[in-house]
Amino acid sequence: MPIRYHQLVTYESGPNSTYEEPKLHSSPGYSSEGPLDVQADVEDPIKTENKRRRRALRFGFLSLLAALYMTFFVAKSFLSGGFIRSCHGKHRIGKHGVHQNATSAKLPTYFTLPSGDKIPAIALGVWRAAPGEVGEAVKAALKVGYRHVDDAWIYGNEREVGEAIRASSVPRKDIWLTSKLWNTFHAPEDVEPALDESLARLGTDYLDLYLIHWPVAFKKGGNTVDFDLTENPYPTWQKLEQMVEKGKVRNIGISNFNIRRIQNLTSNPLKIQPAVNQVELSYWNPQPELVKWSKENGLLLEAYSPLGSAEKVKESLEIPEVLVIAKETGLTPAQVYISWHIQRGTVVLPKSVHPVRVEENFHVAPLSSDAFERLEKAATSHEPFRAVDPHWGIDIWN
Ligand SMILES: NC(=O)c1ccc[n+]([C@@H]2O[C@H](COP(=O)([O-])OP(=O)(O)OC[C@H]3O[C@@H](n4cnc5c(N)ncnc54)[C@H](OP(=O)(O)O)[C@@H]3O)[C@@H](O)[C@H]2O)c1
Repeated sequence: MPIRYHQLVTYESGPNSTYEEPKLHSSPGYSSEGPLDVQADVEDPIKTENKRRRRALRFGFLSLLAALYMTFFVAKSFLSGGFIRSCHGKHRIGKHGVHQNATSAKLPTYFTLPSGDKIPAIALGVWRAAPGEVGEAVKAALKVGYRHVDDAWIYGNEREVGEAIRASSVPRKDIWLTSKLWNTFHAPEDVEPALDESLARLGTDYLDLYLIHWPVAFKKGGNTVDFDLTENPYPTWQKLEQMVEKGKVRNIGISNFNIRRIQNLTSNPLKIQPAVNQVELSYWNPQPELVKWSKENGLLLEAYSPLGSAEKVKESLEIPEVLVIAKETGLTPAQVYISWHIQRGTVVLPKSVHPVRVEENFHVAPLSSDAFERLEKAATSHEPFRAVDPHWGIDIWN
């Protein structure tokens, strides 16, 4: 069953490039201690000298090969930015500001936004993470290496999230914190007070990312739609731009906007383009056209409900194609989905309040192109199903 509005407000309150050292030490005529002088005492001096030269040539040739190999390896890692430490071990920074796992070469650990800020590829989602549980989930996430938490005013848990962040040993500046402007606060004069409330609850003086939660404005104090402000979100956006200028927010973006609504907003003379669009992306609702359009137009997507949300997660984890890929790769089905999302070029926001799952969801690896295509095909071959589909008396998706 799709999730209804009343549920939304419940919480108001290639292979791996295995680098092998060239095996100089096991080359003929060499031991780990140095050259072996095989049969030197029974051969004539000319033969011995020729042999020695051949060995020297062989050694020179192998050394040259090794040097070329090393130069190539070092140059490649230099071009892609060098190594950094992270919870996964060694990572390197990719050409496009992407951290890549050193052993698996390709899966980004962050994406670079137009502002130059680097948004971590995996976030802990905290929608429907209940009071008393959410703080522990955030602490567990930070402990295993997450540096990105996706929250919202409407989730009603910003205070506990903020407390957990402060209780951790991770400095605020190392954590990417997102919150979202609720529908009731789209009127320009309501934007800053709503943001201030989120900042106060989170106990921080800035957000890394602030999103318009839905392309739907409610009339003040209620939940009936303000059709004018919904159809023209520019005044709301201008206020968000001011929040960036004031330093309260580093990046601004949108959520649940389809292509028509994005173009409707961006046809205005924006000072700041939306940094991201956070939308539902899952096996059930993979939205290939939106993914393609966003890539072509340089708009980063964030995948919410990446496991199908609470209502579909069990079914998601039993999809035969995913079980096969999980077996092939040694990943769990949840890790297969999360890896797939990142490989599609999106930030991914899995939610869990169970530390074991929180940790599981953070370990990802690139899928082979064949496995990736099989999952892409399976996800895009059935009738799409939207897990989060609020009914507010307006067709959000048109
Ligand atoms: N912008 C928007 O309008 C919007 C809408 C929806 C969601 N979001 C964001 O996206 C985040 C994620 O979406 P979501 O919460 O709808 O769904 P989701 O992450 O797809 O799924 C969450 C469900 O999966 C379970 N789960 C998580 N990891 C698991 C694992 N490894 N094995 C088995 N079960 C697992 C969770 O249970 P447990 O918690 O019990 O482990 C929970 O029931 C939200 O938390 C929120 O931050 C944004």
